[in-house]
Amino acid sequence: MPKKYVIANFKMNKVDKDVKFYIEQLLPKVKDVTSQVVLAVPSVSIKTAVKETKGSGVVIASQNINENGFGAFTGEINAEMVSNVGAGAVIIGHSERRSYFNETDASINKKIQKALKAGLMCVFCFGESVYDKKNNLTESALTTQITGALNNIYGNELGHIVFAYEPVWAIGTGVVATNAVIEKTLKLIRKIICNLYDEKVANEVSIVYGGSVNESNIKDIAKIANLNGVLVGGASLDPVKFSAISEAFGKTVPKK
Ligand code: 13P
Repeated sequence: MPKKYVIANFKMNKVDKDVKFYIEQLLPKVKDVTSQVVLAVPSVSIKTAVKETKGSGVVIASQNINENGFGAFTGEINAEMVSNVGAGAVIIGHSERRSYFNETDASINKKIQKALKAGLMCVFCFGESVYDKKNNLTESALTTQITGALNNIYGNELGHIVFAYEPVWAIGTGVVATNAVIEKTLKLIRKIICNLYDEKVANEVSIVYGGSVNESNIKDIAKIANLNGVLVGGASLDPVKFSAISEAFGKTVPKK
């Protein structure tokens, strides 16, 4: 059974003291959650977030890394640096980075390789644009993005990659993909991975959905068979909303 993940992506929100306060609020609310809770905080708050979540089981993630090792890349942060301050994961290939920072399938592939080498779990984002959707190009867009990102990655490394399906038209728009669309796309993603590796690898990978997930629509989304969690932007900024979302993917019932 693929592991389940509930991942918060703060994007460029919250100063350090707000991250600390958020974690204080969140931890008691997610202590019985059985899926893996991940918080992708701004890089400058990774250290604070690691300290505040110590012993809780919550994993702290970076929202990006540079694809290079050490060197003259002013302003950049690499996988080793992120791992060294205690992050356990990194988001790679988010559509905002693809569109605003010119990330390509090739640079995303390099980032995944560096992250895996540094022992970080990768939350690899991909998804079709509104143009792809309108022109029936979802299958080819996803095939290109997934194939490009997994170049030179072995099947036994896929357990360290969470596949985050984020249709670009659903991100921050309030237009959540329907369960039928998500279900159909989950099958497509497993088919693409099966073609690159084999059926066993494809069935074991964790696939999460992202795009306008909130505390109201989560109950419906969580019903989708074969969906292994969610990646949440806007609604993750509120610990009450994010804990409600987390609970939808499993919670231990206290013994009487
Ligand atoms: P929203 O949940 O705000 O639509 O953002 C989704 C996202 O981009 C998460 O990475």
